[in-house]
Amino acid sequence: EKGGWPNFMSKEISEEPEAVANTLLGRVTDGLVQLDELAELDQTLRDIDRVTIVACGTAAYAGMVGKYAVEQWARVPVEVELAHEFRYREPVLSERTLVVSISQSGETMDTLMAVKYAAEHGAKTLSICNTQGATIPRESDAVLYTHAGPEVAVASTKAFVAQITALYLFGLHLARLRASLDERAHRDLVTELTDVPAKIDLVLDTSERISELAHWMADTRSVLFLGRHVGYPVALEGALKLKELAYIHAEGFAAGELKHGPIALIEPGQIVFVVVPSPRDERSLHAKVVSNIQEIRARGARVIAIAEQGDAAVLPFADEVIQIPLAGPFFEPMLAVVPLHIFARDLATAKGLDVDQPRNLAKSVTVE
Ligand code: F6R
Repeated sequence: EKGGWPNFMSKEISEEPEAVANTLLGRVTDGLVQLDELAELDQTLRDIDRVTIVACGTAAYAGMVGKYAVEQWARVPVEVELAHEFRYREPVLSERTLVVSISQSGETMDTLMAVKYAAEHGAKTLSICNTQGATIPRESDAVLYTHAGPEVAVASTKAFVAQITALYLFGLHLARLRASLDERAHRDLVTELTDVPAKIDLVLDTSERISELAHWMADTRSVLFLGRHVGYPVALEGALKLKELAYIHAEGFAAGELKHGPIALIEPGQIVFVVVPSPRDERSLHAKVVSNIQEIRARGARVIAIAEQGDAAVLPFADEVIQIPLAGPFFEPMLAVVPLHIFARDLATAKGLDVDQPRNLAKSVTVE
């Protein structure tokens, strides 16, 4: 069943390109996103004034990535909330709120209860799910399946990139219904999305260095992850995987938050992963993150940068640079997360741990 891989997680990381490609299959017609499965929801989608994403763990991080894109393309406010926090605070909901749940298993009790709460309080519900016929999609008004294939390892990997893909499809569909994006921009984004699987393949082909680093770091006690914009949820995901698989204390931060507190954690020898935005980005986020790297280095910490190929600005300051192919800002997370998945897996392996079955965890959490 593992198809020659030492564990399911390795197999599933190797399937990240297909997870994206299969989720796109049949959903792009003549270069434009068309989601027939949402047809019944189309009028609602034209009328909504807010999207609330509910999910847990890795699925919530995919939601955070999706928020940046859906807001940007469809010009609808999007919030992301942990499903277990949602229904205990009397959220403001109306028939113009769309609640989008994200769940690989479709059985996560916290997420299911949030969806039920939303429906009972008049919101429309859309499920992004990887498991056909699971409870959450059955309880929702509409479903957009991710086609990552069955995920066996407890830690979610290929489902994460498939969830981002589905959210991007949803964002482009919504943008089309609401005429918020010109056609040229829509087509360019579709092209970028379609190019992602081949780019993930390139990342997988060059993953030796990250594996070496993981093996050298088997004794590490603490790792920090920094990212900005869509790189921020990637940092959170990198930290979660390391906690979950390698039992190492890890924290993810928004890079801009560093000076508001976390910089006090930076000391000689501390390992800090930094997800670096593209230098081609117009918003000068790249320069800001490079300056964060300098601040970290000045305090003696070791920086492992995940940066775009040819990004010369990071080279003098980072101890290690893991290169990813060129991609538009929204597509970097799907590439940058791959080395972080590999890092967590290989560090856990170096510590002799079971990467498919980390302690204390279950694949689907069907209790609240
Ligand atoms: C992390 C992980 C969990 C799940 C979370 C939600 O690697 O696997 O954080 O992402 O429990 O599970 P689903 O997506 O099945 O609702």
